[in-house]
Amino acid sequence: MKVIILAGGGGTRLFPLSRTCFPKQFMKIDSKDSLLAQTVQRFLPVVKPSDVVIVTNKEYMHHVKADLATARASEAHILLEPEARNTAPAIALAARYCQDVLGATDDEVMFVSPADHVVHPIEDFIRSVRQGIEAARLQKVVTFGIKPTGPETGYGYIQAGKPFDFGYTVKSFREKPDRVTAESYVAAGNYFWNSGMFAFTLGCFFEELKTHQSAIYEQAQASYTEMLTAFAEMPSISIDYAVAEKSSRVITIPLASYWNDIGSWDAIYDVLPKDSSGNAIRGDCMPIDCRNSLMMGQSRLIAGIGLQDVLVVETDDVIIVAQKGESQKVKDLVAKLKAQG
Ligand code: GDD
Ligand code: MG
Repeated sequence: MKVIILAGGGGTRLFPLSRTCFPKQFMKIDSKDSLLAQTVQRFLPVVKPSDVVIVTNKEYMHHVKADLATARASEAHILLEPEARNTAPAIALAARYCQDVLGATDDEVMFVSPADHVVHPIEDFIRSVRQGIEAARLQKVVTFGIKPTGPETGYGYIQAGKPFDFGYTVKSFREKPDRVTAESYVAAGNYFWNSGMFAFTLGCFFEELKTHQSAIYEQAQASYTEMLTAFAEMPSISIDYAVAEKSSRVITIPLASYWNDIGSWDAIYDVLPKDSSGNAIRGDCMPIDCRNSLMMGQSRLIAGIGLQDVLVVETDDVIIVAQKGESQKVKDLVAKLKAQG
C-alpha cells in the first residue's frame, strides 16, 4: 500500500495565521506538531515512511521537509508540482510516480489523504483505514463518511445506499452543494459528509480517470518526468468533481474517529482546550471576565475584558476580532484584501 498525502493547497480560511505562503497544513494548531506532521504520523502504524508520498507545491518544499523530520519520516517521497492544478491531477501524478519510480502494480492500494485535518484517536482512525484498504481491494472507490452536524456547504455529501462491507454503497456524491440542497440532505438523514480521504487500487483509479477524465488520463500515460514537465497543462479540477461525483464504484465507510476539517476560527475554538470559563487561549493573553472566547496572540500581550463569544487572532500585521459563528466570513475579508491588491 502507498499513502498519498495532498499538501499543496493554499487555503486562506484561517487568515491571518494561514496565508498562501503558509497554508493550514503547516500550522501547529492543537499540538506542538503541524497538521501535516500529525497526518504523516497517523499513517505510520500501517505503512513505512518510504511508502508515503507527499504531493505539494514547489513553494512549500522546506515546510514539508521540516514536517517530515518532525514525524520521523524523512524517507517519505516529496513530489513538487510546478503549479497547483487541484487534487485530481495531484493524485494522478502520485499514481504515475508510484508505478514508474516505486514499482507499484495495478492491484496496489493508494490511500489518499488531505494534510490539514484534526483526527484522533489514532487507533480508531487506523481501524477505518484497514477497513478502507480491504474495500479498495474489491475495486471500489472508497470514501470515508462523517455524520453531518449541520448544512455546511464546504463539504462533499455522500448519499448512503445499502450496507456494503464495513459501510454502504453510495447512491450519489455531490460536491459542495448550495445551502438549500445541503439542508435537504441533512434532513433526509442518509447522507454523510465526505472526509476528503479516498482509497482505491492504482488500476481502479486509472480506469475511473479513463472513463470520466480522459484529458488527465491521457497526460498520465506519459512517464512521471514527462507528466511533471507538462503539469501546467492539466485541467484544474478536484478529485471530488472529477471522479467521486461521476463514478459508479463509490462506497463509503463511516469514519470511526473524531474528525474536524478546522476550516474556520470557530472550528479552531472547538478543537483547542478551554479554561474553566470556556476560553481557548494561545500565546500571551490576559482574559478578564471573558467567557467562551478565543484569544490567540503572537507578538504582543492581548488583553480582553468582558468578552463573550468573541474570537481574537493577532499577528504582526493583522488583528481579527470576530463574533463567534461569523468566522466563515474571513473569506470575504481575504477577497476584499486581494481586490485591493
Ligand atoms: N498537491 C496538491 N495540489 N494538493 C492540493 C491541491 C493541489 O493543487 N489543492 C488542494 N490540495 C490539498 C490541500 O492542501 C488539502 O490537504 C487537500 O488537498 C484537500 O483540498 P482542499 O482545498 O482543502 O479541499 P476542500 O476542503 O475544499 O474539499 C475536500 O475536503 C472536504 C473535507 O474537508 C473535498 O474532498 C470535500 O468533498 C470534503 O468534504
Ligand atoms: Mg479542506
